[in-house]
Order: sequence, then structure tokens, then C-alpha cells
Amino acid sequence: MALNLFDRGAPFDEEELANRYRHILSPEDRDRLPAYAALCDALAESRTALELLGAVQARQQNPTLILAILHYLALTGHLVLGPLYGELHEGHPVTPEAFARSVIEVLEAEPALLRRQLWRSTQTNEPNRSAVLAAAIGDVARTLGHSQITLIDVGTSMGFNLFPDHVTVLDRDQGDDAALVTECFTPGFVRSPVPFIGRRVGLDQNLLHPTKTDDVAWLTACLWPEESRRLRRFTALLEQMKQWPEPVRVAGNAVDLIDYEVTFDDTPTYVINSWVLAYFSLEERAQWRNTMDYHFAEREDLVWISMEHPSINDTLRFPEAPKNVPRPGASEIVVTSSFYPSIHWGWSHPHGHWFSVDSGPKA
Ligand SMILES: C[S@@+](CC[C@H](N)C(=O)[O-])C[C@H]1O[C@@H](n2cnc3c(N)ncnc32)[C@H](O)[C@@H]1O
Repeated sequence: MALNLFDRGAPFDEEELANRYRHILSPEDRDRLPAYAALCDALAESRTALELLGAVQARQQNPTLILAILHYLALTGHLVLGPLYGELHEGHPVTPEAFARSVIEVLEAEPALLRRQLWRSTQTNEPNRSAVLAAAIGDVARTLGHSQITLIDVGTSMGFNLFPDHVTVLDRDQGDDAALVTECFTPGFVRSPVPFIGRRVGLDQNLLHPTKTDDVAWLTACLWPEESRRLRRFTALLEQMKQWPEPVRVAGNAVDLIDYEVTFDDTPTYVINSWVLAYFSLEERAQWRNTMDYHFAEREDLVWISMEHPSINDTLRFPEAPKNVPRPGASEIVVTSSFYPSIHWGWSHPHGHWFSVDSGPKA
């Protein structure tokens, strides 16, 4: 245990936090993003970076928060970080170790700049996950015969995943920055259309809004600067979003809000969550599962599609994940409905670059 200088001496486990920095990118993302991989390794070696992460409240002690704060400082005009990150945005070649060294120099010289932003939380709203969720929603709706649904997105952030019916999903890259490109690893899987969505509800304890400048800057910062295409797609979708129906956005803890929303009317209701339940406390996860089970028993047309890291499965009382994960670091998609218990539906890259389907009809 080391003493945390930023948090009035609250101790933290130095090695544990260093490992979080080292392993935050999946092996395939480390290969794709050499500058960010070098930065994560350098952060793991920096005492200041460990102290910063150690000062964050336990549930948000995720290195992506520190990465996003550095990116945010770059986006909001930091004289050194701005041009450094600008090179990555533009896709210019950089030497990963040199990039990492320069960023660490800023972090160590000006830790207060980062400390002032530690109140923020990781809120990455990844539209490409909509492509995977659209496949799961369409598949489940087809098998259950639902042609109209209410969609509730738990931990909606800015709300991108509330529009699986509005995004253009491509299986092969055709160079369109606004379209979501997701590769399906399951031969013969045929996408079914997303049913008509009559009501869209986004729940988040820290809602972000597409018209608020700082919200957009923060969400942009949560993206990874080497993924210039992802940045362009994000901007294009923000623009498109202005034409999409305005969803119901409700601020608060989803555990407290869900009862009202799933009993709102008797339209078949689909509850989705992606990369959210890991932020719940253990008690909240148990309460969430109990609440969902209660509503499954109460109504016949409730569906819950969960896309999370399989390490939290047991806390959600999901069956143990199968061992056929296509690539390390994948998210697991689990479907539960009033008609059947939790079943493993498939796997996905954490940001939806690919997915594979194990359950349900394939073709
Ligand atoms: C990593 S983001 C994921 C956003 C989105 N689901 C996606 O897949 O792109 C996690 C979001 O969950 C929200 N969140 C975490 N715990 C929550 C809770 N108990 N109730 C409501 N929202 C929560 C956070 O504020 C954040 O916006």
C-alpha cells in the first residue's frame, strides 16, 4: 500500500493500479493504437499517474478516466497537449514512446490540472455498440414476434444507443464516416430489422446532452485520439442526431428509476445496458437483478439485453460465460426475457468492431 498524496492520505494499492493502466487496452487494441498503448505503459510507471488514479472514488478508478482527462485538456487548448494530440487526430505518424514521454512530462509537471477534473466519470458513448445491439434487438424481436417496442437504455450517457433503428450499419467498410461498421464472425447470421420504437428512454445518473458544449467536449475526450475515423463518425452522428426524435432523458440512478419506466405502458419493453453495470456497486447489481426478475414475473413482454464484461456475470446471476470468446477482452451479450432465463447470445468487441452470435436462429 502506498500513501495517496491527493486524498488526505487514503492508501491505494500501487501495483494493482499500475496493472490497471497496463491492461486497460485489449491486446487487439494495443496493436491498433501504439501511441495509447505506450501511454498506458508509461502511466503505469508514473508515481503521479498512480496517485491521480488512487484519488478517484473507487467505482470510477478506471484508467480511461485519466486518459480522457488528458485528451480533454488537449481538446480545450493545452499548449503542449493540444498539438501532441492533434498529430494523432490527423493520423500523422508519431513515435509512440516519444508521445507517451511528452504526455507524462505534462502530467508530472501539472498534476493539479488533472486533479481538478477528477470529479468527472468515464462516459464513453460508443455508437458502434448500437450496431451490435441492433442485431440482438432485431434477432430477439423476430423470435418473440414484437413489431413495436419501447426501448430503455440504462446508462445512456448522450443517448446514442437509443437509435439502433436510425443508424446505418455496414458489414463491410465503404468509407462512410457516419455509418457504423461491424463485422459479424458468425457465418450465416442474418440481421433482422429493429422493430418500430415508439418510446425511447435514456437513464443516466450523469446525463450528457448533445447541445451542451462541455458535454460534447468531454464525450469527445472519452474517445481514443488515434482513432481519427471514430472521431469523425462521432461528429457526423452528433449532427445526424439533431434530426432524430428527441428521447425521454431521465437523470438519476437507474436502480431507482427502472420500476417506473418498465411499467410505463404495456408495449413490449426492451431494457438495454452496455458497459454500465460494472459501475454499479455489488448491492446495486443484486438489487437490479431482483427488480428485473420481479418485472419478468409481472409482465410477459419484457426483454433485457445486457452487454458487459463477463467478469461481472456472477454478480448478475448470469450463467457462466462459455469459453469460446473469439478474442480476449470481449463483452458478452446476455438476453433475458419473460419467456426464458438469462441466455448467452454472443460476444462483441467492447466498442462493437465485431460480434459473434452463439444463441438463437442463425439463418
Ligand atoms: C461507460 S458509459 C457507457 C455508455 C453507453 N451505455 C454506451 O454503451 O455507449 C457508462 C454510463 O453509465 C452511467 N451510469 C453508471 N452507473 C449508473 C447508475 N447507477 N445509474 C445510471 N447511470 C449510470 C454513467 O454515468 C455513464 O454515462
